[in-house]
Amino acid sequence: MIYAPRLPRLGAFEAWRDAARALASNDVPADDIHWAMQGDDAGLFGDGAPLPAPREMMVPAAFVSLARRVCAHRAPGAHDLLYRVLLRCRGNARLLGNRADPQVQQLEAWAKNIRRDMHKMKAFVRFREVTPQEANRRQFISWFEPDHRIEELIAPFFARRFGDMDWVIVTPQITTRCAGGDVSHEAVQSARLDLSDETEELWRTYYANIFNPARLKIKAMQSEMPKKYWKNLPEADLIPGLIAGAEAQMRKMQDDAPSLPPLRAERILDRLPIREGLGDLNACARCPIGAMATQAVGGAGPMGAPLMIVGEQPGDREDLAGMPFVGPAGQLFDTLAAEAGLDRDAAYVTNAVKHFKFTPRGKRRIHQSPHKSEVEACRVWLEREITQVQPVFLLAMGATAAQTLTGDGSALMARRGTVERGREGLPVLITLHPSAILRSEESDRLRALLVQDLRQAARMLEEIRAL
Ligand code: URA
Repeated sequence: MIYAPRLPRLGAFEAWRDAARALASNDVPADDIHWAMQGDDAGLFGDGAPLPAPREMMVPAAFVSLARRVCAHRAPGAHDLLYRVLLRCRGNARLLGNRADPQVQQLEAWAKNIRRDMHKMKAFVRFREVTPQEANRRQFISWFEPDHRIEELIAPFFARRFGDMDWVIVTPQITTRCAGGDVSHEAVQSARLDLSDETEELWRTYYANIFNPARLKIKAMQSEMPKKYWKNLPEADLIPGLIAGAEAQMRKMQDDAPSLPPLRAERILDRLPIREGLGDLNACARCPIGAMATQAVGGAGPMGAPLMIVGEQPGDREDLAGMPFVGPAGQLFDTLAAEAGLDRDAAYVTNAVKHFKFTPRGKRRIHQSPHKSEVEACRVWLEREITQVQPVFLLAMGATAAQTLTGDGSALMARRGTVERGREGLPVLITLHPSAILRSEESDRLRALLVQDLRQAARMLEEIRAL
């Protein structure tokens, strides 16, 4: 008997889940199922046999969140492979933790494509205001062409971020509306909307002003902003001109740069409010650490990530690379996070302090803990990141992060593994810093504790994703 479930364009995950539950709980082999989307050519199988009645079945929570993403992928075999892995998961709850398994690897790769597509949509959706005169809420419209069927996955992000306005996002197949905070989707075919107007002129002016020639990385820009998105971005045609003028503008910025503040000015600078609109972390002179560092190291990860991981400060390697947690502590963190089933790519990773503090010793640069006043001076940047990323909870790694996020500087080991309320009102899970393991004689014990806490973070993440 052949089953041929047809998944609707809207609610595809729920339809797949219901059909898979009915089929798997009745031990139907994967080869007897032909998965397809509604509207696809039914081929040889027509409607297939009616689905059997579902029976009770337990599935690991991690599988559900993976399936939710993979179901949005356009790869033809995605629903079939999900079902095959579902069958295997039943007798093996740890299967998804086995990154060497080729089927798990394939699903993870597809889930990663979905995360990336969502990241691009968050970054490149541009709204145009269309508020009619009599309206009491502002109204916006946008056009976007995602690679995958991500409209339902991404809608909660836009609803959270733009909850105080009404908006419509039109994609070639789905129109998503948010009115008064209520989100609805409609499956309609739409042709590309041309949205050029004065708002775009404003955006172009803004983009030209925030463009920082000193941080120009053409390759990174092209990979972050692939050409296929350019046609819908009002600022795209400015980019070649900005790149061409970057070197001259950078020289001018260097000539105009203020001289470094003397170290003894540290206390006074600490008390100065940050200049609004300064925008560029690299220019921060609220404390003297930045004067020695190669560059400021901001966070990395998707906007809207439910989890923000906060460390202490960039180390030697991070200072050179401009990315957080890429040196030995970062590598150890990656290993332990993988062991704990915590997906680093789903988190926004950053530090309490954005510059590397060190003392030179010969050719080496030896890490120095930041002073309390330096951590306090840098908190404004972390707060900006929290406002921008809008995490649901934070993971504080080490005493510096715990202190800055909760305001409580008491001993870390008594607090680790617990969730405290942070200054921003968000839950903060406290744990130790990976570099404590690298330095300690009790490294096995500390390693086990950190893995335990990372597992807790992974569970909290799963609970959020399962919502
Ligand atoms: N230690 C940290 O706290 N952060 C980094 O980015 C690297 C090492």
